[in-house]
Amino acid sequence: GGHVITIDALGTGTIERLLERAEQFAHSDRDEFRHVLRGNVMAPLFYEPSTRTRCSFEIAARRLGMDVIYFDADVSSVTKGESLWDTLQTLEAMGVNVAVLRHPRNDVYATLPGKLEMRLVNAGNGTLAHPTQALVDWLTMRQTFGTLYGLTVAIVGDVRHSRVARSNIAGLVRLGANPIVSGPDVFRDAEVECVAPYVPFEEALRDADVVMMLRIQRERLEENLAWEMDDYLHQYGLTEKRLELLKSRAIVMHPGPVNRGIELDEAVIEHDRSRIRQQVANGVYVRMAVLEYVLGRGMDREAHDQAGEV
Ligand code: CP
Repeated sequence: GGHVITIDALGTGTIERLLERAEQFAHSDRDEFRHVLRGNVMAPLFYEPSTRTRCSFEIAARRLGMDVIYFDADVSSVTKGESLWDTLQTLEAMGVNVAVLRHPRNDVYATLPGKLEMRLVNAGNGTLAHPTQALVDWLTMRQTFGTLYGLTVAIVGDVRHSRVARSNIAGLVRLGANPIVSGPDVFRDAEVECVAPYVPFEEALRDADVVMMLRIQRERLEENLAWEMDDYLHQYGLTEKRLELLKSRAIVMHPGPVNRGIELDEAVIEHDRSRIRQQVANGVYVRMAVLEYVLGRGMDREAHDQAGEV
């Protein structure tokens, strides 16, 4: 296997196989795969908060028979100034084979000074990449539409700060889908719009097969933007009324956590069109497939086409 750091570094064939394997896990018995990664050890290294990603990785690891260690950056030797590199080396010396890393810095992987025996899985870094979330989203789309080919996916909201948007767009184009973005001007991103064109909000809602609403990342906002958020639901949120603009088959997604009443009306979260709970459930299956892949198990050898380098 290799590391999983970005969608760009994964072959399209690998992505398709990961989704197929995840679908297989979705239909399997909870105990069916407990032997697959027995004896391997996963370390969740979260330098930013998480509920979905961390918990689903832990559940996924255990369903494959892995041991999972407890690690809390706030009470680890990180607080005494130990570097990420030294932390990884230390864990590797204890036999950790997979580190699942969430980190605030875009360049966290680029600045690691050497090679590791252990596999790294990116659980979100800065505003750059969240590859397993993108895989979760694509599995959810496939379960609804059978294929991603030809789907128009409208990604709406805080695109500028969104690693979920960047990882989605990186793969959607290669998988034959048509990503577009929308939302307020303050969240627009010229680089993203080179690949996913900007479409005014209500037009985007009419065009979309998938409406992916993004969380306003208040922790990454400058103070002077906060006041503009007051009227967000009214201007750029998905209300029940706006659902009427959607095609009959269109679905609503959100990576979570949701700011209730800001990106989404309360009623939209639980609406028939919402796939938010399904996305969360798929988190376990996708992360099982990813853990198996990085350890070189489960899928056939050619699938491991990007092994090695960080
Ligand atoms: N979607 C997502 O990454 O959620 P968490 O921050 O709760 O892991």
